[in-house]
Amino acid sequence: MSDAVILGIESSCDETAAAVVKNGREVLSNVIISQIDTHTIYGGVVPEIASRKHIEVIVQVVGEALKQAGTDMQDIDAVAVTYGPGLVGPLLVGVSYAKAFAYGCRKKLIPVHHIEGHISANYIEYPELEPPFMCLVVSGGHTHLVNVKDYGEYEVLGRTMDDAAGEAYDKVARAIGLGYPGGPKIDKAAREGDPEAIAFPRAHIDGEEYDFSFSGLKSAVLNYLNSCEMKGEKVNTRDVAASFQAAVVDVLVGNSMKAADRYGVKHFAIAGGVASNTALRNAMQEACSERGIMFYRPSPILCTDNGAMIAGAAYFESLKGKTAGLNLNAVPNLKL
Ligand code: KG4
Ligand code: ZN
Repeated sequence: MSDAVILGIESSCDETAAAVVKNGREVLSNVIISQIDTHTIYGGVVPEIASRKHIEVIVQVVGEALKQAGTDMQDIDAVAVTYGPGLVGPLLVGVSYAKAFAYGCRKKLIPVHHIEGHISANYIEYPELEPPFMCLVVSGGHTHLVNVKDYGEYEVLGRTMDDAAGEAYDKVARAIGLGYPGGPKIDKAAREGDPEAIAFPRAHIDGEEYDFSFSGLKSAVLNYLNSCEMKGEKVNTRDVAASFQAAVVDVLVGNSMKAADRYGVKHFAIAGGVASNTALRNAMQEACSERGIMFYRPSPILCTDNGAMIAGAAYFESLKGKTAGLNLNAVPNLKL
């Protein structure tokens, strides 16, 4: 079979990203422009501003991705784009651009689910990895425990009932004055804190053993901060960060391994922005090693939003003939 070179475009949140990937696993270029500096001023992503920023840079980002890959528009076999889930305005920028590109260059258009993109980052990092495997997807908007049965075939075993893991990181970081984006800042602060300093709750949901809940933990952190303030006690930010992170990681690893044991899993992967977290990577590695499970975690640059994971996922979808017409629309609450 001949090679398939796919241009992947991602704009579902605050990264404008484009990449060129060959056969779903070989990255020829991966260009990302983050809007973090803009949104930091507001303490979180402002959807309308995010849309405008995507419009400002998308032409340049795609052009740079093609240039770095040494390809031009005609060398591309298909253009892939995230069409959901995500923020509707930001998604529409990528979808509209991809449709125009596909129409103008007479190329196939491949719609990609954002979470499928995150999972597929593992195929890039590990060219030998093939389904079936289990994957914990943890990002700013999602916390899913997924049984990857085959390429593009997913069974969601558990999901968050309220906040996503990354959302909890971001909210707690704001409360303890670390700012946005919270994940990397808590990750760093926690390295110098005591994870056992404060006993924050580990939520388990009755009857739904693989589901997650992080809003109670977030409230517990806020209550702790309030009570310190009322008592006039100084808050040790690093201890709060480390103790909060320990509670998140415990639950993520606990549910993951419960499912891995039950399903007799041999290969376990993680994906999404929170998968770049040091404590989570270490704890998952250890839990998998204890069970003789092969553990997979993409490099941090492939964990947070990027275009390569979208182009990668699109390759496997294209093998099954999945394409979209020019009536493709953004679907903000798209289900896996
Ligand atoms: O996958 P992603 O880039 O975007 C979404 O699809 O949501 O994930 C972003 C999330 C943010 O909540 C960010 O705080 C979190 O991932 N994150 C981290 C780390 N790096 C990014 N959380 C914990 N530790 C990190 N090192
Ligand atoms: Zn994401």
